[in-house]
Amino acid sequence: MANISAVTLNNGIIMPQLGLGVYQVKDGDEVEAAVLAALQSGYRLIDTASLYGNEIGVGRAIKASGIPRQEIFVTTKLWNDDQGYDAALAAFDVSLKKLDMDYVDLYLIHWPSPKRGLYVETWRAFEEIYRQGRAKAIGVSNFHQPHLDTLLESATITPAVNQIELHPDLPQLELRAYCQKLGIIVESWSPLGGGGGSLLDQPVLATIGQRYGKSPAQVVIRWHIQNGLVVIPKSSHAERIQQNIDVFDFELSAADVELINGLAADNRVGPNPETATF
Ligand code: A2P
Repeated sequence: MANISAVTLNNGIIMPQLGLGVYQVKDGDEVEAAVLAALQSGYRLIDTASLYGNEIGVGRAIKASGIPRQEIFVTTKLWNDDQGYDAALAAFDVSLKKLDMDYVDLYLIHWPSPKRGLYVETWRAFEEIYRQGRAKAIGVSNFHQPHLDTLLESATITPAVNQIELHPDLPQLELRAYCQKLGIIVESWSPLGGGGGSLLDQPVLATIGQRYGKSPAQVVIRWHIQNGLVVIPKSSHAERIQQNIDVFDFELSAADVELINGLAADNRVGPNPETATF
């Protein structure tokens, strides 16, 4: 089984560098089958969110796997409507209940939602949850530099992770450098460029893949890993779930990493956190 590499968060917690993302995977049979397939293929990180509506299925599949809870790294996220100190504490209880767990490994503020002006207050609730040991690490998602700066003005705990849209054609170089300076691990969402994107059709990825006997998706996942990012490709197909973890038996050459870096552009497939209206 694949030997998944790991990163160490700023509080010493070890996080696998590759996991399964379950955005848009339906609760019930679909998510349970995907999470089980992932765990049986060797995944030990599952990334869900309150918004995804599938925390119940994620929790069930983890139990059904028979793998001890402490061997699996579970992330969930607070939805924007639940920002604010009291609302965040209440929403966290609901997530834990749905997951049927007594802790999560990582709890993230899903979006800064600057129009609400509540993420600083929300973070105070996150610090409380962390101190209670009910989240082993806390972090943010979709935070840009100004949001991080505002948060850190009053935070007593620096976020462990910032999960952002990131793929070779949206490499987020400046934000990555800023997070690195702050000791924040960057996690890539839509690491394959998203379902509707054309990243995986770029001929250079197929050419590189042929050198290693790997698919374009595997080449891109490996690029994230070699960049020190945590990567959570989504798939609801067992065959692709298995394919996406089969990336620990080869190493892209520096020249091939450079070729992939050459795809750099500004191809955002999701909303821009600064202008998002939700
Ligand atoms: P599916 O769920 O039907 O397998 P991202 O994680 O960047 O958002 O990308 C997810 C999209 O990429 C989904 O549409 C998923 O489709 C597809 N996908 C996941 N793994 C692979 C793969 N190995 N090869 C091709 N497409 C993939």
